Amino acid sequence: MSEGADRIALALSITTNPHRLVRAIFSGRRRNMNPEFEKVHLRPVQIGSEVKLQIVTTSEEKVRTTNIDFAEFEPEKLWHSGFANLLVEGTTESITARFTKKGEPLVSIKPARNPQNLAHDQTRARLLNTDSEFAVRLGLADKSGRLKPSMRKKFAQVEEFARILLPLVKTAIGRQKIHTPSLARPLTIVDHGCGNAYLTFALHLFLLEQGLPNRIVGIDKREDSRLRNQDAAEKLNLTENVTFIAERIQNLAQAPTDIVLALHACDTATDDALAWAVQNSARIVLAAPCCHQDLQRQMSPEVGPWSLVVANPILKQRLGDILTDSLRAQLMRVCGYRTDVIEFVGDEHTPRNAMIRAILDERLDHSRRTTEILKYRELADFWKVRPRLGEFLGI
Ligand SMILES: C[S@@+](CC[C@H](N)C(=O)[O-])C[C@H]1O[C@@H](n2cnc3c(N)ncnc32)[C@H](O)[C@@H]1O
Repeated sequence: MSEGADRIALALSITTNPHRLVRAIFSGRRRNMNPEFEKVHLRPVQIGSEVKLQIVTTSEEKVRTTNIDFAEFEPEKLWHSGFANLLVEGTTESITARFTKKGEPLVSIKPARNPQNLAHDQTRARLLNTDSEFAVRLGLADKSGRLKPSMRKKFAQVEEFARILLPLVKTAIGRQKIHTPSLARPLTIVDHGCGNAYLTFALHLFLLEQGLPNRIVGIDKREDSRLRNQDAAEKLNLTENVTFIAERIQNLAQAPTDIVLALHACDTATDDALAWAVQNSARIVLAAPCCHQDLQRQMSPEVGPWSLVVANPILKQRLGDILTDSLRAQLMRVCGYRTDVIEFVGDEHTPRNAMIRAILDERLDHSRRTTEILKYRELADFWKVRPRLGEFLGI
């Protein structure tokens, strides 16, 4: 074995030792290889009386965490799947390895004293500053920059939007689906049903901090909301890039837009936001729906065996939620969006914690579109419902 391979073997052996591993990161891509994940992060965590290996995998759009027994972990298999870089911090050393373009491993080992932290619930890295002027001005934080207890839930929702959006934007730029933004040509974003504009301001500033100049417009039907938010934008000196319009989404003028957001836009306002996104060819759409009343009003009590379910108001409501978002997601697929419905934040932060995540891919060819429309109609017809988004899109 070459010296480099020996050293990599040592680094990998640390990742299987619960007493020595502090953290490890596998990242990058070796030439002509295609590992399943962009990044894999390992660390030991104490769960009950056992120390487990926590594995966080990041792929294009998903971050997934699992905790397994150390004995189950196969580091060689992971490493040989094609990563180019490895960082292993053990309790007594830090090892970095990378493959050169010629395929040679370069490994450095430095003595270190890295303390283990086995806490399971490590606070997730904060993405948004609470001590910024915006957080204080909008009432998310108190004057000393501490997050207000009453705003924790909203803050968590906004932060998860940021966490989900960032890799999507970077990937879209990397694939030239969205232009590289500049001050002269910023990203364009619309936040539908913006209310107090926590999301609007937070994402504008967050993306800017990430080197992504952007112009964001908050839409709300309420004029008082526009006046308050516009006033905040003036006081924060952001009026050039953060603006507000008092208008119903369904009446809003068309404007090609890169990103469309909607956080808890009420009932069918989410449908209107999705329709607007489709009409304006938004590349990325993140919509966390709020109350779903439209379909519940339409759902018939006579639906064969399902009558047993819809006879219970709470079950009918839950089923109505599922049905509404399944049909919305399918309509987005029909319109050429790669779409899934994810839990964007824990339900301790809001019971309305589903998000429709849609990325404009390619418009479907005629036959695929017809197939997807048929799937949509089958479900809608079974329930004898006509979702507003479908009506709007003429599907
Ligand atoms: C539950 S609040 C959410 C506010 C904000 N996005 C947040 O999460 O803090 C919903 C907002 O959507 C607005 N809204 C509801 N229907 C709308 C429509 N059709 N067009 C524009 N705004 C609408 C309401 O005025 C309200 O401010």
